[in-house]
Amino acid sequence: MTTAPFDHLILGASLATLDGADYGAIRDGAIAWRDGLIAYVGPRAELPGEPSSIARVVERVEGWITPGLVDCHTHAVFAGDRAVEFEMRLQGATYEQVARAGGGILSTVRAVREASEEVLYAQSKPRIDALRADGVTTLEIKSGYGLDFENERKMLRVARRFGDESLTVRTTYLAAHALPPEYAGRADDYIDAAIDWLPKLHAEGLVDAVDAFCEGIGFSPAQTRRLFERARALGLPVKLHADQLSDLEGGAIVAEFGGLSADHVEHTNDAAVRAMAQAGTVAVLLPGAFHVLRETKLPPIDAFRAHGVPMAIATDCNPGTSPLLSLRQAMQLACTHFRLTPEDALRGATVHAARALGLADRGVLRVGLRADLALWRVNHPAELCYWLGGDMLDTRWVAGRPH
Ligand code: NIG
Ligand code: FE
Repeated sequence: MTTAPFDHLILGASLATLDGADYGAIRDGAIAWRDGLIAYVGPRAELPGEPSSIARVVERVEGWITPGLVDCHTHAVFAGDRAVEFEMRLQGATYEQVARAGGGILSTVRAVREASEEVLYAQSKPRIDALRADGVTTLEIKSGYGLDFENERKMLRVARRFGDESLTVRTTYLAAHALPPEYAGRADDYIDAAIDWLPKLHAEGLVDAVDAFCEGIGFSPAQTRRLFERARALGLPVKLHADQLSDLEGGAIVAEFGGLSADHVEHTNDAAVRAMAQAGTVAVLLPGAFHVLRETKLPPIDAFRAHGVPMAIATDCNPGTSPLLSLRQAMQLACTHFRLTPEDALRGATVHAARALGLADRGVLRVGLRADLALWRVNHPAELCYWLGGDMLDTRWVAGRPH
């Protein structure tokens, strides 16, 4: 008996492979996979073998298939909401003023500390479901609203629970997000504590990467470096909330550690952009936060392009600065606010986002990579960045299985 070369084949759809220029587009294409990995991608006319030897054939004539979307920066696990703070900011208060008055991140910390693991899971689930429903197949989730050992652990455990055969979840340890009230005036002591918790949580298999909020209202470059040194000693990759509200050389600090990504990066300077290029660090653009905070300082898009720094796009889904539940919407905002092309935005939410998570096995439709796909009801891939809202996803496949 001969073995079928594929266990699943889709015929006739258009493919935005992102492998090559112009979306790597293939019209009237065929894509097939076996054991969860892509085994053929190309024109239907060049498909080898007889479709009859294939276990499952799906004929499609409409729609576009892209790599499954990768949301590489979220704070999607949290309790409560901050709608009141949104109203305060609309009346003129700044994000920093709200934070310094004990609101902001610390108000979500109070809600997370009060919530049981079950409540935290239940409150977070609709957000994860919304991101999935708009095409996300790989999702990063940060801690950072616990700010003590047990509550950071609770957040990471909940985040891990969202990962299954229908969604890859990568967790990031962000204890250095804000100074909890019990450490007021003792930021260095708090960083010592956060450094101390890290190996314990890592030993429980709860940490894939380490992040910090390096900012006037967050932690200093020196404190960030101390935490990163511990991460490096444990073999954990780093990423950073860098240069969001001011230039603290965040991009350069990540580059110094050979880190995966510098995120936000509105205020990143030219020398830091060059350092990021050298280190292979991805710039993660978060247009949702830019939009909600009504920021005006644009990230240095031209410099990233000129120096060949890959730009990823993420939702930054969080209760304060980016209550954004659609990565496609983040792509739309990246085009309107940052003037990315729709093609760049799609690369930003797939291949570059995968790289920002250190994942080389996805983000492009190519033989040998994971069959993580999204089929969209659109006539052209630019439509993914064009509509505001709407329901465009037909099917998502994760490692070759429809979900
Ligand atoms: O990425 N800048 C810090 N962290 C988040 C906001 C978190 C919050 O306000 O709850 C961000 O924008
Ligand atoms: Fe963030």
